[in-house]
Amino acid sequence: MRNTPIHFDTVKKKMTESGLNSVGRSSIREIKKLVDQIEEATGEKFIRMEMGIPGLPPSEIGVQGQIEALKKGVAAIYPDIQGIKPLKDEISRFVKLFMDIDVREEGCIPTVGSMQGGFAAFLMLSRLFEERDTTLFIDPGFPVHKMQHRVLGLKFESFDVYNYRGEALREKLEEYFSTGKIHSVLYSNPNNPSWICFTEDELKIIGELATKYNVVIMEDLAYFGMDFRKDYSKPGVAPFQPTVARYTDNYILFISSSKAFSYAGERIGMMVISNNLFKSRYKNLLEHYPSDEFGYAMVFGTMYPLSSGTSHSAQYALKAMLKAANDGDLNFVEEVKDYGKKAEIMKKLFIDNGFEIVYHTDIDVPIAHGFYFTFSYPGMSAEELLNELVYYGISAISLLITGSEREEGIRACTSLIQHDQMVDLESRLFRFNQDHKTK
Ligand SMILES: Cc1ncc(COP(=O)(O)O)c(C=O)c1O
Repeated sequence: MRNTPIHFDTVKKKMTESGLNSVGRSSIREIKKLVDQIEEATGEKFIRMEMGIPGLPPSEIGVQGQIEALKKGVAAIYPDIQGIKPLKDEISRFVKLFMDIDVREEGCIPTVGSMQGGFAAFLMLSRLFEERDTTLFIDPGFPVHKMQHRVLGLKFESFDVYNYRGEALREKLEEYFSTGKIHSVLYSNPNNPSWICFTEDELKIIGELATKYNVVIMEDLAYFGMDFRKDYSKPGVAPFQPTVARYTDNYILFISSSKAFSYAGERIGMMVISNNLFKSRYKNLLEHYPSDEFGYAMVFGTMYPLSSGTSHSAQYALKAMLKAANDGDLNFVEEVKDYGKKAEIMKKLFIDNGFEIVYHTDIDVPIAHGFYFTFSYPGMSAEELLNELVYYGISAISLLITGSEREEGIRACTSLIQHDQMVDLESRLFRFNQDHKTK
């Protein structure tokens, strides 16, 4: 038996009982279950970095808005499928004030989490053109989007952007677009899992090519405003959240309320369809929808059969939060800045103990400190490292399930780690480094 910070035999036993051959190859939820069991058996608290869930209480303004709406009886009434008018108006204001883009309220549609926005968009975008059947993911990315493609039976291709930053991105995208198969592209910015952020030049390249090849860009802004290197928190004041929407009019934005407003539990997000795409007509849509107009088909042909709209009271919650942000009464960015502070401390502890940050720059500047970061340990694959870290009371996920080609990489999520756990993290990383001295 080895002497490790978490009792060696107990960890081994729980791993065998779980039936998982390797932690390094398991899904996020499988790892969560295993760690829950080890924590219970040993009484030791892990440094839990596997799940990307908000570590903060929900926005009080949202909760109050929702309670008021419930008390007024909205629970009994079906909401409009396209979303309630006051919320649509606030979404349109929000993208103007925080992104400096103009989108009519008809294109601002609440969804059951940004997850549903993605599902609805994938369904429609794969049906725009008979000859185009493939989504392109700029990876690394959020594994559930690929899962959505699999259950819908849709094709996708992907590449790891690690080696294609800056001008190299143009050539890589043209390589895919010129095949004539690609109908749309998806990426998240800031990126889950690597926390890289595209530069304005890169967004311009993506936008220009989207227009040139008539490809729709899906920009996933699940971590809106959370590149803390710049202050995107002031409504109507530059700098604004960077977006491809300034470089093409062929886009859909997914804006989640889960992290920016810590409202994950109510499953409410926003899908923002550009004015141009909303009104665009595709004759191929008539095969499946009552109209060939993208926006109409989205609301009455896609959102209707999926869920017939989004929770009525949650829409009022989101309306209240957005109104407060738009009016300058709620600094939602300030509320989540602690993720960045924790990331800075944690990254230093990892680096001081022999680890390396995998995705470490945005071309020539260090990446921001935020919700996630990626790390590796010299001489170990991600699978080996994750399997070993469990004995040191540290849990995370492999980058391999995110489409990354960095076989050594691991994603760490900062959200659930408390400041008073940093001491434990430091001593466990120190022990790990002592026990695994690199040559
Ligand atoms: C990149 C990305 N997109 C989408 C989502 C899901 O967002 P929502 O909770 O609004 O469905 C997440 C959640 O972790 C995410 O990281």
